Amino acid sequence: MNKFSWIWLASPLLFACSETATPNAQSASAKPQPVTEQFEASTDYHSFSNPDQVRVTHLDLDLTADFERRVLHGQATLSFERIDEAAKSLIVDTRDLMIDNVTVDGTKVDYDLKPADPELGSALQIMLPESATKVTIAYQTSPSASGVQWLSPEQTAGKQYPFLFTQAQAVHARSFIPLQDSPQVRMTYEATIHTPQELLAVMSASNDPDTARDGEYHFTMAQPIPSYLIALAIGNLEFQAMGERTGVYAEPELLAPAAAEFEDTESMLELTEKAFGPYQWDRYDLLILPPSFPFGGMENPRLSFITPTVIAGDKSLVALIAHELAHSWSGNAVTNATWRDLWLNEGFTTYLTYRIMEQLYGEDRYNMEAVLGYQSLQTDIEALKAKDEILAIDLRGRNPDDVFSDIPYEKGALLLREIEQKVGRDNFDAFLMDYFEHFSFQSITTQSFIDYLDQTLLKQYPEKLSKQRIKQWIFEPGLPKGAPVPQSDAFAKINRMRSAWLDQEMAVTDIKTQAWTTHEWLYFLNNLPQELSADQLQALDSQFNLTASQNNEIAHSWLLIAVKNEYKPAYDRLYEYLVNIGRNKLVKPLYRELSKTEEGKAFATKAFNEAKSGYHPLTIKANQGFVEK
Ligand code: BES
Ligand code: ZN
Repeated sequence: MNKFSWIWLASPLLFACSETATPNAQSASAKPQPVTEQFEASTDYHSFSNPDQVRVTHLDLDLTADFERRVLHGQATLSFERIDEAAKSLIVDTRDLMIDNVTVDGTKVDYDLKPADPELGSALQIMLPESATKVTIAYQTSPSASGVQWLSPEQTAGKQYPFLFTQAQAVHARSFIPLQDSPQVRMTYEATIHTPQELLAVMSASNDPDTARDGEYHFTMAQPIPSYLIALAIGNLEFQAMGERTGVYAEPELLAPAAAEFEDTESMLELTEKAFGPYQWDRYDLLILPPSFPFGGMENPRLSFITPTVIAGDKSLVALIAHELAHSWSGNAVTNATWRDLWLNEGFTTYLTYRIMEQLYGEDRYNMEAVLGYQSLQTDIEALKAKDEILAIDLRGRNPDDVFSDIPYEKGALLLREIEQKVGRDNFDAFLMDYFEHFSFQSITTQSFIDYLDQTLLKQYPEKLSKQRIKQWIFEPGLPKGAPVPQSDAFAKINRMRSAWLDQEMAVTDIKTQAWTTHEWLYFLNNLPQELSADQLQALDSQFNLTASQNNEIAHSWLLIAVKNEYKPAYDRLYEYLVNIGRNKLVKPLYRELSKTEEGKAFATKAFNEAKSGYHPLTIKANQGFVEK
């Protein structure tokens, strides 16, 4: 039940609307339904809104951040188009919002806040006077809004100022703005944000690096974007330029290390433009978040949000930046129409990421990253149910957050790799350039992609490509026979050394690791046998100091091995890791593994309870099942 459900009791319209909301969304808590032929492929099952009748085109936001109460309060003005002239109401999504009032041209209008679905929130139906083109909703957020994290000063790098950030993808924008929270609704936006005077606000919009720090900040996003790309952060932030169009926002403690780590961002931007068409968002900046940020990165337009856990000191984890940057083409310019089509965002982006990494850092690095991605995909395929290995996944009745896997990423990228290999790289690049131009600023379904392919590459290269094969990739589980398999010579060497050591043909002191990159370490560790003896673990650790590794990915791989083998000398480090990092991809596998034994679960529970006040709502939700209640 919505925390503020008394609001709809107070609504004058309680169940008395002449027109009932006919939401697409079904209760996400209901049992998932079997895939059927009647599947409505362009329907967004995760929004209650009615863009086919009345479509929001612009958002005007005025919000104040109250750090004491942990609420955002103010108003959202929505401008809309009537698609269906007969439509009498606008339906927007909300989640745990307290609605103060709804007005059109200063006059209060009737509204109905429907009962809450636990995953999707509450539809807010607003009755529209005939001539209305704008409505204003005055509201405030809940302190536990699923899309907002409020951090105390201790949870930041500087420890002196509080911090706030939002994370809207997939269905959380509705927890801080009442809007049509569907990726097929695109809007421009303007915002005024009021903060404590000493803090700076930034958004996924135009940010003026020279703005006076006066507690009032203005933003404009002139290109129409889907709601999941609206983002806000507030903190003790400073800016440093990295290139002409690129820069970084971070707390002062992290600013110089971040700018050094990510100094290749400008080159990435330039080479991506050259290969795939113009960058359409003017500036590209990075925002470094506190370590509780639940993802590696989030492609908020003009301002990607980035976890600090990738600042390794040697640029070894910058594929993340290439990835978020690439979303400026695949995702932000050409957007998935529903969450079922997420692979159009993530698969294209993963493919582009590999291409950027190859061009900037060479083929060896690309090959290594591709093999690691492929292995990670294989691990997921082993664990997933067949129906969740389908690119165009059926998400009806489920929260998209609960079905997160490598399928849309790595399987999607492999499909594109196969097409590239069949038609030739130059031809495929020309196709991609056209694709981004053709669908720019549109939200498209998997079917739109298939139809477009039908009119282009499938027509041009009928002897090389078949529609049947493409459909097999998109609608069938697993990988089709003959799918590309990435290979790395550098890793072949690692395999030989690992085997020689395991077969006791080589002493640990003879494993020549001096020149190993992070990727070689990850490959060495990830492919050790599941079971290792205490002596073997001890030998590796004392020779290579793995427990002390400050590279968060290497530490993750090592700690996972430690948990699987109950290697206790690493447990202090494991505890510290779990308490200090909130990036779900890094902590979830550790919690999952710990939960398999009673002792492990007790350890996990202790760490989780200590960390919980600093974890993001998404990280809490994803891991609470692994610890004791
Ligand atoms: N857009 C995603 C993050 C996301 C996906 C949030 C789905 C919510 C729902 C972002 O671009 C991403 O893919 N991040 C990855 C990066 C990695 C693949 C390089 C991450 O955070 O791990
Ligand atoms: Zn992504």
